[in-house]
Amino acid sequence: MAEEPEKRPRVRLFVALDLPATVREGIAAWGERELRDPALRPVAAANMHVTLAFLGQRDEAEVEPIAAAVLAGAGAAVRMELGEPEARPGRGRPRVFALPVRSAGAAELQAGLVGRLEEAGLHEAEKRRFWPHVTVARVRSEGRRPAAVSRHPGTLPEGLLEPFFGVRVALYRSELQPRGARYVPLAQVELSASGRQ
Ligand code: 2AM
Repeated sequence: MAEEPEKRPRVRLFVALDLPATVREGIAAWGERELRDPALRPVAAANMHVTLAFLGQRDEAEVEPIAAAVLAGAGAAVRMELGEPEARPGRGRPRVFALPVRSAGAAELQAGLVGRLEEAGLHEAEKRRFWPHVTVARVRSEGRRPAAVSRHPGTLPEGLLEPFFGVRVALYRSELQPRGARYVPLAQVELSASGRQ
């Protein structure tokens, strides 16, 4: 007998560009000083990345073709630069604080990935423009809206403003847990350091 569609296992998926551990740890160390407002939930170093495509809740059977589209994007490591923290949305109470990322290579990676996923019928590109960023803190909820943040994060130290290279692209399964999200890599492709662009 055919399984009922709603009983099929579903997984929450996204594809991200990974940052070197030294950069993630540097951001976390800065965050210990600058993300101290009690309304903020800082993102753990292990969970920092640049989301290239958020795929949402998907049928487990889609993992394999999605992974194939991710792996087809093997290429040179991409040069990236972090910008000063921004609150989003910019008006009203912010929900997140993020570091914007300047990187032509990341934009190219994202366009290539989304193109392959769309061609395979696995994803519909978002209407809004790609905004490469690293989320560093989420704002706790207060009833139905975000709590007020009285102390916004200050500027980054000079070391974090130096360019660096993104190290890999990975397909992640996101497990939402009471103590925060856990991201499990399901497929990953290392970006080659020798062909850095
Ligand atoms: P964020 O960093 O901008 O918050 C795992 O949840 C990753 O997927 C996060 O890094 C998050 O991006 C992104 N994500 C979660 N929900 C999303 C949504 N509805 N639309 C786009 N990206 C989302």
